Amino acid sequence: MNSISNLTKTSVEKPQAVLEIWGRTSLKGKVQISGAKNSALVLMAGTIMCPGKCILRNVPNLVDIKRMGQILTSLGVKLKQDGDVLEIDAQEIIPAEAPYDVVSQLRASFFVIGPLLTRLGTARVPLPGGCAIGARPVDLHVRGLQSMGANVSIEDGVVHANLVGSKRRLQGASIYLDYPSVGATETILMAATLAEGITKIENAAQEPEIVDLANFCNQMGAKISGAGTNTITIQGVTELYPLDYNVIPDRIEAGTFLVAGAITHSEITLTSIIPEHLAPVIAKLKEIGCQVLVEDEIGKTFGGNIKSKCLRLIPGELHGTDIETLPYPGFPTDMQAQFTALLSISKGNSVISETVFENRLRHVAELQRMGTNIRVKGHHAIVQGVSFISGAPVMATDLRASAALVIAGLAAEGKTTVHGLHHLDRGYENLEDKLRSLGAKLERVIPAS
Ligand code: EPZ
Repeated sequence: MNSISNLTKTSVEKPQAVLEIWGRTSLKGKVQISGAKNSALVLMAGTIMCPGKCILRNVPNLVDIKRMGQILTSLGVKLKQDGDVLEIDAQEIIPAEAPYDVVSQLRASFFVIGPLLTRLGTARVPLPGGCAIGARPVDLHVRGLQSMGANVSIEDGVVHANLVGSKRRLQGASIYLDYPSVGATETILMAATLAEGITKIENAAQEPEIVDLANFCNQMGAKISGAGTNTITIQGVTELYPLDYNVIPDRIEAGTFLVAGAITHSEITLTSIIPEHLAPVIAKLKEIGCQVLVEDEIGKTFGGNIKSKCLRLIPGELHGTDIETLPYPGFPTDMQAQFTALLSISKGNSVISETVFENRLRHVAELQRMGTNIRVKGHHAIVQGVSFISGAPVMATDLRASAALVIAGLAAEGKTTVHGLHHLDRGYENLEDKLRSLGAKLERVIPAS
């Protein structure tokens, strides 16, 4: 096992490589989907709640995971990584302040505030800044913790949270979220596991990653019900126990590969999937003209009883459709950029409305450089499908935008050079190896200076 700390020193700082993609190559074959980034990150934070050695399996090898490892290490947690298995020992934790330089690059590091507060009664976490896709405030997280009796103040960009007076534990409360925020739901859910009494979260987020977190906490000894609905109830307990847990597959990586298959008119198969997590994505792919078949596999079991399946994409003639991003079970905002690329070369017109984040259409300008016909009006992208797009040098602006540009490059005539790969490496494990194994022609190179 390698200790995570020296891994972080080498693998995060990468030279400014670029991805060269030669388009219009059809894909074929099978690709295994990795564990979900947006589940693994919050589960890593959740291990802080338990004084013992937890094992997380199916953890994707990503820069964001390494950064979360740095955050935990700074709090005294000991981590060991062996492939996709993380051993996390939070026996001894110190209420240190998570390092700003890491927090500013990984919003998910804010997830440690709930576990620290509920275990130690105190937490100091730098306020995560905004990022390319929006301001991304944490007011719903803070208000939830205050409802549970925490004194929360923000001084010099650091969120200080403490129990008030003689209280030794957070107090259960009824909390209504103004918006079904994924992160706020997760912060409150974790804080409530060791609180005194019952906490009820109304208008809660319903994403699969919330269900995975609830299953994880319940396996630790928590008493949580209703995860996956808009009302979650948590009965506080006094102790949590170490566990060995399998992270769910990454529905967004899976969706990204389905779109790569559709845009290159390729029949491909994805393995290690939970199809229900992709219902809105599969529905839209069918509307656009593809078929997506669910097949059994001898795979893994998740969340205690969910068996993994395969998904087979059968391509078809692509027709435009409208998309509006919404909280789960609506169409996921994390798939919006990839579908914008797909619809840009689908017959007819499409309107794509981004309702979750205020600045998540920045990939449009880059897609325009490739000959697409897309107009942005407010938070809508109005797409007129074109018959072909041309390769060009393009700049990734955020994680899912980078995936959209790779997808567009797979369909474009000629060569596309994607810059800003640090965005891609945050959220996709070995993307180019996986695409090459399906027959794509692409290579990561360091341009001659
Ligand atoms: C999670 O971010 C995901 N990240 C995001 O994935 C995903 O896009 C998002 O959920 C929505 O599904 C992780 O899980 C690490 P939110 P999160 O709180 O929790 C506003 C990716 O590409 N809001 O549901 O930050 C917020 O500004 C990433 O993998 C408040 O106003 O999302 C946004 O407009 C990107 N106040 C909306 O809610 C708050 O206190 C949704 O945010 C919290 C959120």
